[in-house]
Amino acid sequence: MPQTETWWKESVIYQIYPRSFNDSNDDGIGDVNGIREKLDYLKNLGVDVLWISPIYRSPNADNGYDISDYQAIMDEFGTMEDFDQLLEESHQKGIKIVMDLVVNHTSDEHRWFIESKKSKENPYHDYYIWKDGEKNQPPNNWGSAFSGSAWKYNEELGQWYLHLFAEKQPDLNWENEKVRQSVYDMMTWWFEKGIDGFRMDVISLISKDQDFKDGETFSGLYGNSMEFCCNGPRIHEFLKEMNDKVLSKYDVVTVGEAPGVTIEEAKKYTGKDENELNMVFQFEMMGIDHGKYGKWTPVPFRLKDMKANFEKWQKGLDGSGWNSLYWDNHDQPRIVSRWGNDTGQWREKSAKMLALCLHMHQGTPYIYQGEEIGMTNVRFASIDDYQDIEILNAYQELVKEKKVLTEEQFMEGVYKLSRDNARTPMQWSAEKNSGFSNGDPWLNVNPNYAEINVANQINDPDSVFSFYKQLIELRHHNKVMVYGNYEQYLKEDENVYVFTREYEEKKLLVLCNFSDRNQEIQLPSFLVEEEYTVLISNDNDTSKCLTENMVLLPYEGVAFIK
Ligand code: GLC
Ligand code: CA
Repeated sequence: MPQTETWWKESVIYQIYPRSFNDSNDDGIGDVNGIREKLDYLKNLGVDVLWISPIYRSPNADNGYDISDYQAIMDEFGTMEDFDQLLEESHQKGIKIVMDLVVNHTSDEHRWFIESKKSKENPYHDYYIWKDGEKNQPPNNWGSAFSGSAWKYNEELGQWYLHLFAEKQPDLNWENEKVRQSVYDMMTWWFEKGIDGFRMDVISLISKDQDFKDGETFSGLYGNSMEFCCNGPRIHEFLKEMNDKVLSKYDVVTVGEAPGVTIEEAKKYTGKDENELNMVFQFEMMGIDHGKYGKWTPVPFRLKDMKANFEKWQKGLDGSGWNSLYWDNHDQPRIVSRWGNDTGQWREKSAKMLALCLHMHQGTPYIYQGEEIGMTNVRFASIDDYQDIEILNAYQELVKEKKVLTEEQFMEGVYKLSRDNARTPMQWSAEKNSGFSNGDPWLNVNPNYAEINVANQINDPDSVFSFYKQLIELRHHNKVMVYGNYEQYLKEDENVYVFTREYEEKKLLVLCNFSDRNQEIQLPSFLVEEEYTVLISNDNDTSKCLTENMVLLPYEGVAFIK
């Protein structure tokens, strides 16, 4: 099917986690003015859009994903004037700003919730999901994503409220028309200010099956709510309404974070004629190395699983939806440590190979701060060095209370897959605290900052940074990278990933070696055509020729074009 060409398909989006990006006033916490200071850096990298994780007022139970006022800036991050200035300066530089829309839940300190728990008659009571019941007997067996039951009892009301995440993140009741209208009004307020889009937090969860039945208990602790909450009964109705009332009025970009999304669902969320969202973040791929207790019990990475998942989504949405492409974000570990190799000689090589691999797919690529310099996972000595509520709650539950994992087992999971791996401060230079702040950072800096930092890389043509810059530039000039359709080859190979992309008269052939050894491959002869030349390679060998029998060096990544 022919592609519709659009600016947000041709863009590269850079995610900022403000708390860890750049601290302008040395209180150890990144802030809005810190982002402003780095706009030239981002312009130099060449990204088109910034997605900024939540900067709204928040008591920070979940670092801003628990919002107490959607129309104010968190004190630690600055003021609304700072934000207005950031928006203006970004626009002057031709960079768009996407905000995070967190409307599956609010903070329990949001005015709506404070009203809601005053009485059953309060006009805001139905803004949240309350169920009558006895103490000790939650309405169902659902577990929270941050451990424990998903229900919390309120003595005065004799009712339970639902929180799919932390206790301090009560779920909004989207069945209530007033909730929806309040959200649409707030979104409109931001668009009128001039922002360029929203990344929508766990948007696939906003419509709950109203029977609230028990879920399956996979690991024997709590029931899984996802079957009843992901892509729920009214989700598409709600998003069509949101599109009709708000999104359709502006030329903006939208990406839905969508746990539980399938290809069939993704077509509904992102299909051009569906009038819902532009694209979604899928989670299937990020789950391929999760075990019995999810990320706390990692299982080995198998390249074949990753390749199969790429193929499924690349073909599944081609012409009928749109993919977002990501390795990293504030919820995922660092990709070079996860599926590359962060040890000595292979770190830069594998970081570049992974970058090349991702950016050669169809979809809109996302770069998470620090990914562009190959930042790695961190191993803090003690659980006390960690800050993430997800880690700390899981530790209490799995290690201390239920004792299903030992401390050592749990820490292995933390080192491999936990979220704080991505949240250590951005490594700007070899100076104190990696140049992030002169104050004590809210989360420790990764000790490898003297070696891995922006200052080291920015003027080095062979750096990971320069490689990302080159990939972004290439995407801006080669529509085949954006729109080309996808075919995979050598699917059974456990070390090498081979695929092609084709658009109009152009064709790409991409070869990536995911191992630390030479790999000999045999390409189908029809693929090997003389006109191919190297478009980009992490081996600096632009004279490389495409042949039927080829040897790929460890972590080599190369894209040919004709
Ligand atoms: C999303 C966010 C994550 C947050 C959760 C609850 O998954 O990306 O950081 O903890 O939603 O808001
Ligand atoms: Ca600060």
